[in-house]
Amino acid sequence: MRTAWYERNGPAQDVLQVGTMETPEPGPGEVRVRVQASGVNPSDWKTRSGSRPMVAPRVIPHSDGAGVIDRIGPGVTDRRLGERVWLWNGQWRRPYGTAAEYIVLPAAQAVPLPENTSFAEGACLGIPALTAHRAVTTDRPCSGEIVLVTGGAGAVGHYAIQFAKLLGAAQVIATVSSAEKAEHAREAGADAIIDYRTEHVVERVQALTNGHGADRIVEVDISGNAHLLPQIVARDGLCVAYGSNGPDATFTFGPMILTGAAVRFFIVYELSAEARRIGIEDLTRWLQAGAMTHRVAAEFPLERIAEAHEAVEQGRFIGNVVVIP
Ligand SMILES: NC(=O)c1ccc[n+]([C@@H]2O[C@H](COP(=O)([O-])OP(=O)(O)OC[C@H]3O[C@@H](n4cnc5c(N)ncnc54)[C@H](OP(=O)(O)O)[C@@H]3O)[C@@H](O)[C@H]2O)c1
Repeated sequence: MRTAWYERNGPAQDVLQVGTMETPEPGPGEVRVRVQASGVNPSDWKTRSGSRPMVAPRVIPHSDGAGVIDRIGPGVTDRRLGERVWLWNGQWRRPYGTAAEYIVLPAAQAVPLPENTSFAEGACLGIPALTAHRAVTTDRPCSGEIVLVTGGAGAVGHYAIQFAKLLGAAQVIATVSSAEKAEHAREAGADAIIDYRTEHVVERVQALTNGHGADRIVEVDISGNAHLLPQIVARDGLCVAYGSNGPDATFTFGPMILTGAAVRFFIVYELSAEARRIGIEDLTRWLQAGAMTHRVAAEFPLERIAEAHEAVEQGRFIGNVVVIP
């Protein structure tokens, strides 16, 4: 099969190679998927560049993808043959991800993809959509809450806005950094937009919420935004920190203790089976109902995978980037 891989950590152009490898065969409980689209997430370039140790001497990158089941291993029902699926955790604690013509993985990691959803869109669900789902559902329901989504035009943020609205949030406010990103967040359903580069975020949140603050903050950059938390979070509010641009986040104890706020961290790769089940159930229902909008911003052929990584690394597009193997 045609596939991409790297054998050491480093810059995309230096370490990513494209070539052929033996096509894998599914083992017990596994399915083989002919990958039609492979999603590129920040986690993929961070892992490739060395933020996590190599899990094997050769790694096929990317956790997300979508395609068609073309072979099944012992113990898997043959009703799954020919099924359109989207994939999660393709390259998490496993060496061989979705940047290949074929991937073999446990049957549960291949979720039925509704007919109305393209393979490229399906390749955006494993990390961005499931992360957004967890961010708006963890700890307590978000129905009736005022939700602040920082980075509302990001791959995760764009879904978080949609899911907060679908789950009955009272108000969804998004921060962005340009007019184009504001439009993208508004299209997702944000009730109000704050340009965090040109506007005073604290004053705007306080004005938009009549001094209440945000009950839930879906935080893309806890290192950069932690200092704002005591001034924008509602009493007993929740900050769900799923991303960070820097290694450390600093909170000042005095102001924080007065808020009663909680900070929740999580990583989508390690969702509990129950949280993942609920996420997949909600996503499937919303996909079938046509209730979700996706933005696939760019598709790269497998040969140009290094450019796809650089595009995500540099935040060159508004929306998701996929590679077509
Ligand atoms: N915990 C998990 O399981 C999990 C899952 C998925 C992603 N992540 C992490 O979450 C982050 C976002 O992922 P993504 O796929 O959504 O990336 P993305 O598509 O690049 O989106 C990130 C968005 O955040 C904005 N942003 C950056 N710094 C910001 C700040 N200080 N305040 C407000 N907005 C800011 C960016 O726009 P501007 O720079 O123009 O503002 C961009 O729109 C990454 O660090 C990723 O590694 C974690």
